[in-house]
Amino acid sequence: MRRPLVAGNWKMHGTRASVAELIAGLRTQTLPEDVTVVVMPAFVHLMSVADQLGASSMNLGAQDCATEPMPCALTGEVAASQLTDLGCRYVLVGHSERRLLLGEGDALIVRKFSAAQAVGLTPVLCVGETREQREAGQTLPVVLAQLDALIDTLGVAVLNRAVLAYEPVWAIGTGLTATPEQAQEVHAAIRQHIAMRDAAVAAGVQILYGGSVKASTAGELFGMPDIDGGLVGGASLNADEFGAICRAAGRVKNA
Ligand code: 13P
Repeated sequence: MRRPLVAGNWKMHGTRASVAELIAGLRTQTLPEDVTVVVMPAFVHLMSVADQLGASSMNLGAQDCATEPMPCALTGEVAASQLTDLGCRYVLVGHSERRLLLGEGDALIVRKFSAAQAVGLTPVLCVGETREQREAGQTLPVVLAQLDALIDTLGVAVLNRAVLAYEPVWAIGTGLTATPEQAQEVHAAIRQHIAMRDAAVAAGVQILYGGSVKASTAGELFGMPDIDGGLVGGASLNADEFGAICRAAGRVKNA
């Protein structure tokens, strides 16, 4: 049984004041015990969020890390070990905004994934197709190639200590959520593809859906057999909305 996971990717949002307000709001939420909840603030807010989370059950994650796991001369970057030092347990790698707007390619993303695991951080590898790719019938080839870039380099067993996130680019920040059936189709294909290499790894890996997830759509999405939770952008900046999304992922519905 895979444990559901919901992560809030705050992207490049937040001031000290708004972050404090958001954490205070989140701390009033009833969060289900059977769901791993992660908040992913911008680097500049990680330390204060770590302090403000205190004894909360919420986990801390970052949105990116350097290709090098340990501190070194690499101006402007943040080492994976610096993230664990702050209390991070998760880190996004390969988010489509970094792939498409900043030109990150598969080889670089695989190095970041590896750096994260080298210091015990759990990488959340994001994959997903653009609207043009979907319309050209290329969804699965694109998504599976992004996944294969990792598996072919590091081996399938690295997925035992990682999370995957399917985020169709056309659904990010657009209000256009993939239907539960559209998302399930890709999640199932990802799991099947991994199963061809190793059935146990495929059965155990959590695959999150991301792209305009809201409290009103989360229940149906998370009800699909291969969707193990969500990677939430905009809606994670609202404590009530994010709390409701986390509760929708709970298998124990009265949590
Ligand atoms: P939205 O939920 O704002 O569409 O963002 C999704 C996302 O990119 C999460 O990583």
